[in-house]
Amino acid sequence: MTGPWWREAVTYEVYVRSFADSDGDGLGDLPGVRSRLPYLAGLGVDAVWVTPFYPSPDHDAGYDVTEHRAVDPRLGTLADVDGLIGDAHRLGLRVLVDLVLNHVSSEHQWFVSARAAGPGSAERARFHVRPGRGPGRAEPPTNWPSIFGGSAWAPFGDGDWYLHLFDTEQPDLRHEHPDVAADALATIRFWLDRGVDGVRFDAAGSLSKDPGYPDLPEGWQPGDPAPYSDRDEVHEIYRRWARELASYPGGRLGVAETWGGPEVLAPYLRPDELGQAFAMDPLYWPLRAQLWRDGVDALLAATGRHGRLPAWVHGSHDVRRAADRWGPHGARAVLLMMLALPGAVYLYAGDELGLPEVTLADEAIRDPVFRRSGGAERGRDGARVPLPWTGDSVPYGFGPTGSTPWLPQPTDWGEVSVARQRDDPGSALALTRAALALRGEWWRDRPAELTWRDAPAECLAFRRGHRGPTCVVNLGDVPVDWRPYGRRLLLASMPTVEEKLPARSAAWLA
Ligand code: GLC
Ligand code: MG
Repeated sequence: MTGPWWREAVTYEVYVRSFADSDGDGLGDLPGVRSRLPYLAGLGVDAVWVTPFYPSPDHDAGYDVTEHRAVDPRLGTLADVDGLIGDAHRLGLRVLVDLVLNHVSSEHQWFVSARAAGPGSAERARFHVRPGRGPGRAEPPTNWPSIFGGSAWAPFGDGDWYLHLFDTEQPDLRHEHPDVAADALATIRFWLDRGVDGVRFDAAGSLSKDPGYPDLPEGWQPGDPAPYSDRDEVHEIYRRWARELASYPGGRLGVAETWGGPEVLAPYLRPDELGQAFAMDPLYWPLRAQLWRDGVDALLAATGRHGRLPAWVHGSHDVRRAADRWGPHGARAVLLMMLALPGAVYLYAGDELGLPEVTLADEAIRDPVFRRSGGAERGRDGARVPLPWTGDSVPYGFGPTGSTPWLPQPTDWGEVSVARQRDDPGSALALTRAALALRGEWWRDRPAELTWRDAPAECLAFRRGHRGPTCVVNLGDVPVDWRPYGRRLLLASMPTVEEKLPARSAAWLA
């Protein structure tokens, strides 16, 4: 192996609330995750990212934290975390925790006291608080939108407004404040001291805001540069935290949850910053060969400037299911492509089963995005429905018989369960397992330079370096002849590949 363990690691995102429910309260929990670790080891991933399990009133499914160094009693105990880390390590899996340091819950002690203390108080200085504009200070201080819809400011009711880039129940912290900086560092240390191998920094680019709080220019669109995103100052924070990560024996991974193109994520990868930053753009790329080729080249070039590789994101709890975004076959093709590309890969729980996006009834939706957009956006819960493990009726092994999962599972969920797919060689699960097993042998730690080979329209063919296997991806709808690329076909995204590679599929050839 060359470089640190994470350079080409495949990390599986365990969305705790929807993974496995040990006690039957409908909510996935840490003992549930622990009991399913052998499944993840058997799948062949290198690491697991465990989404937030800290005490939370759940206005944003645990991303609204009241105590960063404790465990939500509904999800387990600190002893469960220790047990999970220990079990994972024994199974050869690394563990990443998810730290939400940009904001707290509105029920966090700091915010409760800030609300009570009133304008001009020291308590409010830990948050982004500004007087409202206009008569009676009744208008928000700036025109900044919340990422979840509506204004990013909410009134305290006394002329002051506080900033919440996400939900109103997630007030943003001011990282320039010494208490905030010290507390964040204490949180990072707390989890590293418990033995986690890395940390995901939630909303990584949002931690620094322009202290002049300028309005967004007319015509501003989401995705354009903003005075609260990816500012130069945010990198000072990551430099500080990177020193902390590096101070642990062997070094620990920091991964930034970045949302932006190559030029946005590359600075997070400077040698004195983090090891990984999410490459999210590909999540939205349509299946057009030239677009993928140019996009892949741009990400490799930008990360390569700092001696790093991309962290390819195949899916997550924040976007629609891969099988929905790219179609079921497209999702498999992209999976093989990402596993063959230089870099790390993030897989989202349930995508190894090819789970579809679920259309939930309005009453079932919990995501604040739904409420804040007045129902215009369905939100992200369709990708968060608890996993089907076994059986033909609710809760499909997610929890004990008779329990009711926090989001309703479809009535045909049994057909896509782990048990159903486990022994089916044509299943999404079998493909994922086989691809992960081969990845180490065929792709990982080969040269980081891609050699693109000639390919028919809407196809991609590449090697890492100038020798070795070729990955052929057919993103179009016409079957293509794979034989020019190699003689040994070791894997395809479809069980029935003969001489033609079907539409929207991929194969690895030697
Ligand atoms: C990140 C999380 C997302 C959450 C948001 C606010 O983007 O992935 O689920 O809603 O941060 O914490
Ligand atoms: Mg539970």
